[in-house]
Amino acid sequence: MFHTEICDLLGIRYPILQGAMQGAGGPRLVAATSQAGGLGILPTFGGTEEALRADIETARGLTDKPVAVNITPMGKAFTESRARICVEMEVPIVTTGRADPGEDAVGTMKDAGIKVIPVIPSVQHALRVQAEGVDAVIASGSEAGGHVGGVATLALVPQVVDAVDIPVLAAGGIGDGRGFLAMLALGAVGVQLGTALIATEEADVSDWYRNAILEMQATDTIVTTALTGATVRCIATPEIRAYEEARLSGAPKQELQRLRQITRQNHGHADRVGGADSNERRQGAAGQVAGLITRVRPTAEIIEHMIQDAAALSNGLADLAQASAPGAERAAE
Ligand SMILES: Cc1cc2nc3c(=O)[nH]c(=O)nc-3n(C[C@H](O)[C@H](O)[C@H](O)COP(=O)(O)O)c2cc1C
Repeated sequence: MFHTEICDLLGIRYPILQGAMQGAGGPRLVAATSQAGGLGILPTFGGTEEALRADIETARGLTDKPVAVNITPMGKAFTESRARICVEMEVPIVTTGRADPGEDAVGTMKDAGIKVIPVIPSVQHALRVQAEGVDAVIASGSEAGGHVGGVATLALVPQVVDAVDIPVLAAGGIGDGRGFLAMLALGAVGVQLGTALIATEEADVSDWYRNAILEMQATDTIVTTALTGATVRCIATPEIRAYEEARLSGAPKQELQRLRQITRQNHGHADRVGGADSNERRQGAAGQVAGLITRVRPTAEIIEHMIQDAAALSNGLADLAQASAPGAERAAE
């Protein structure tokens, strides 16, 4: 069901990727996603080389299916060192986020046979990475958790589909079979989920973080520059709101620095990338789809239901189209 060209390209059963989630998606979530027929992707954002090697080994110990790695370009040296590790460890698929990986890093990975798939927030960015020779792109809308651009998924995906010649996946705001099917209708060949997999049995998150996701409304997120300097959509805690209010009202630099320091203290630190999260943490990235998530589930259940619900919905829509076709009423009489 829903076997698209991305399934063949990546060697996966369902066209569903678990987007890398620094601070939430460690080897257990990655392996659970791949094992369920999707593609699990390990984060590298801010982590050491040793942590990445260890996480790849751990995830591979938990599944015999493909395990991918995400490189968040944080300077040329960082990107190239993580790309080298992926080549050495024969990682089959690498996604990139936030910024361009650059032609050199893409070339190194492509020469080694790695499929490279950047996450992009705009048509211009998609065309740029297509010219660098990437295999596909993930068009991520502004409702997504984590680093975001300014265009919503519904508007972004068809525009990217029309602009590029490579396969396009969709990310941002997808939480169930309805969102999955909508993205296919827009021309995407698959989806990437983030927020919908935070409240799973396999995600490495604190109780505070999991409960926040379960209790949140769609309006409880905020886009802030406090955490990484770039625009990140996260849970709108009082500390982040205070920072953003001060920033927008033109508060002096020192005051902004003081408020940013408070938000970063609350952000907490994973023991290592993808490792167990600190229970003292009172901050986390999350997308607007959090309002749809009300209970903790196993990752495999979310993926299976997404596919089954989308299939049922698609059949229902086909019936609807049939029933409303010209002449259908007369034929029914
Ligand atoms: C907690 C969290 C951490 C994230 N970390 C990363 C990351 O390290 N690298 C990256 O490319 N994207 C990261 N993202 C983005 C996700 O991979 C994914 O594209 C996004 O969450 C999809 O939108 P959704 O949250 O609406 O499902 C993160 C998202 C969340 C929620």
